[in-house]
Amino acid sequence: MLHNLKKWLKWKKTNKEELLLENIPKHVAIIMDGNGRWAKKRGLPRVAGHRAGMKSVTEITRAAHELGVEVLTLYAFSTENWKRPKDEVDFLMKLPQDYLASELEDLVQKNVQIRLLGTEEGLPSHTLQALFEARQRTEQNTGMILNFALNYGSRAEIVQMVKEISSKVKSEEIDSDQIDEKLVGQFLHSSEMIDPDLLIRTKEIRLSNFMLWQLAYTELWFIDVYWPDFRRENFEQAILEYQRRVRRYGTVKEDS
Ligand code: FPP
Repeated sequence: MLHNLKKWLKWKKTNKEELLLENIPKHVAIIMDGNGRWAKKRGLPRVAGHRAGMKSVTEITRAAHELGVEVLTLYAFSTENWKRPKDEVDFLMKLPQDYLASELEDLVQKNVQIRLLGTEEGLPSHTLQALFEARQRTEQNTGMILNFALNYGSRAEIVQMVKEISSKVKSEEIDSDQIDEKLVGQFLHSSEMIDPDLLIRTKEIRLSNFMLWQLAYTELWFIDVYWPDFRRENFEQAILEYQRRVRRYGTVKEDS
């Protein structure tokens, strides 16, 4: 795995390997990490890292759309992120508004559908309002789904699913024999979308309570780059690596 962008560009030049447009991962999920450290390295406040991270969001969203990705999920705020200093939380809660103020028109034109993955309860009304408006404005669109995971935690999502299914079993709307993987999936926030084909995480090699059920057969790719430094070339690098992998889903392929 080539982590370094310079090395990657050199490698690309020598190998001339091209992305296969017929094998672009349908759903790409990204854990955008390292904003705080990016800022600290420059002697800036942590929030400057989040602001810079927003530029990467814009660049990668455009790249995903151009490459034909069907669903792009971005982990923007976890249920654990509430434990951060209030100033930082307040700043993070304003970012969706700022992003949408500058990008919504372009996203509408590009036929993108904006969605929210996570618990609405607890999010400030100004954040929700901006996201609801964007969701509504793009509701009739049929192109790429841009999914913001906000106030999202996978274990909380699983707990909520268990509660909902057990209450339906209790009220006899569901028989316990009917509980299978498909039914469980229908009670998760992600019920209307396919599971991620590729997960990208910058800076760390862990899942941090992100889409634990949905990532069961996802290809994982980690890169030692701060999210604000993550460029389109890195995104293409991840997709090329994805295209080189053989997905087995627990079975045996003829060539192995
Ligand atoms: C993790 O970095 C990043 C976050 C908690 C926030 C991610 C948010 C953005 C990239 C901007 C989102 C933009 C929109 C449009 C919603 P960290 O702060 O944990 O970095 P560190 O590990 O270096 O401290």
